[in-house]
Amino acid sequence: MDKKDLILIEKLEKEHSLLLSEYEYLIENLTDDAIALLAEKAVSARKKVYKNHVYIRGLIEISNICKNDCYYCGIRRSNTACNRYRLTPDEILSCCRAGYELGFRTFVLQGGEDKYFSDDVVCDIVLKIKENHPDCAVTLSLGERSKESYQRLYDAGADRYLLRHETADDKHYGFLHPDEMSFKNRIACLKNLKEIGYQVGCGFMVGSPGQKAEHLAKDLKFIEEFKPDMCGIGPFVPHHATKFADEKTGSAKLTCALLSIIRLISPNILLPSTTALGTILADGRERGILAGANVVMPNLSPESVRKKYELYNNKISEGPEAAEQKDELVKRMKEIGYEVITDRGDIKKVVQKNVHTTQGKEKA
Ligand code: 5AD
Repeated sequence: MDKKDLILIEKLEKEHSLLLSEYEYLIENLTDDAIALLAEKAVSARKKVYKNHVYIRGLIEISNICKNDCYYCGIRRSNTACNRYRLTPDEILSCCRAGYELGFRTFVLQGGEDKYFSDDVVCDIVLKIKENHPDCAVTLSLGERSKESYQRLYDAGADRYLLRHETADDKHYGFLHPDEMSFKNRIACLKNLKEIGYQVGCGFMVGSPGQKAEHLAKDLKFIEEFKPDMCGIGPFVPHHATKFADEKTGSAKLTCALLSIIRLISPNILLPSTTALGTILADGRERGILAGANVVMPNLSPESVRKKYELYNNKISEGPEAAEQKDELVKRMKEIGYEVITDRGDIKKVVQKNVHTTQGKEKA
């Protein structure tokens, strides 16, 4: 293995941090040996916090109506061929009931930026989910909203919020999004969510059009500094009705290496092995877990709408990707040595022992 790779991987394992230029070097020099070593160290870091436990989330895709026009996304507003739907609050609540029976204790309500889901409507849904299932966590993933709106949803009982930053480079953000969207606002939203007290998830696509190693290095630095509780990364997969239709699919190998690096940056982070990874590789979900991920999010939407939430070509929603096939997922995880856990699966805040020692000394 490249000697510098080895030094950087060991530094990352010990210090949970690299210089921007070091992240970039590592990404540009990822040999198979380096990837294997990263995975080994990532798995051991994760085991210390989460043992061999894998957490599950029931993903409910509540609407594919979106006011945004992100160039990469299949449900962008200008895709007139998209067959639009919106779940009613009652449908969402019955998804949660079905999910609860199946053993899910976190419900993720994800959707496009659909005006129908006003604060009043979402608050009412969150309150009812919490009333029906007080032992469950509610995660929202409904895009950019005002701080006041995030606060209202939090006060109604939402525990977590997922908002991928998509890329930590301002110019690259501009390449992937129309002018009316801004990197600045995206980051402001993430900061607001954190200030309010949510467990916050950011994330990005691997191999998105125009992405270079320097952009990924910035993504990693951003994760290191922002310290999200969760981070969703998956390969970019082209969607036929977008301007990126003919772009290359992101690499599963690089996605896995980045999962390992993120695990080493943040040993206690909740890191999903994403649907996009499962879409481009038959055993993608397992590969993600073996690289350091510890969350899977099967689809709990009504079966009639699953195919319509088409963010990218051939997005999977069957087999272990379907919530009702949870047994199959449990079996697959068992086969690779992992145990699926039925609880809310909150982030485990690790108390750093040396911090206490220092404080003790200062007091003494
Ligand atoms: N390929 C991969 N991921 C995509 N997303 C949207 N479009 C694509 C695509 N073509 C991801 C974005 C978004 C999340 C909901 O799905 O990162 O934040």
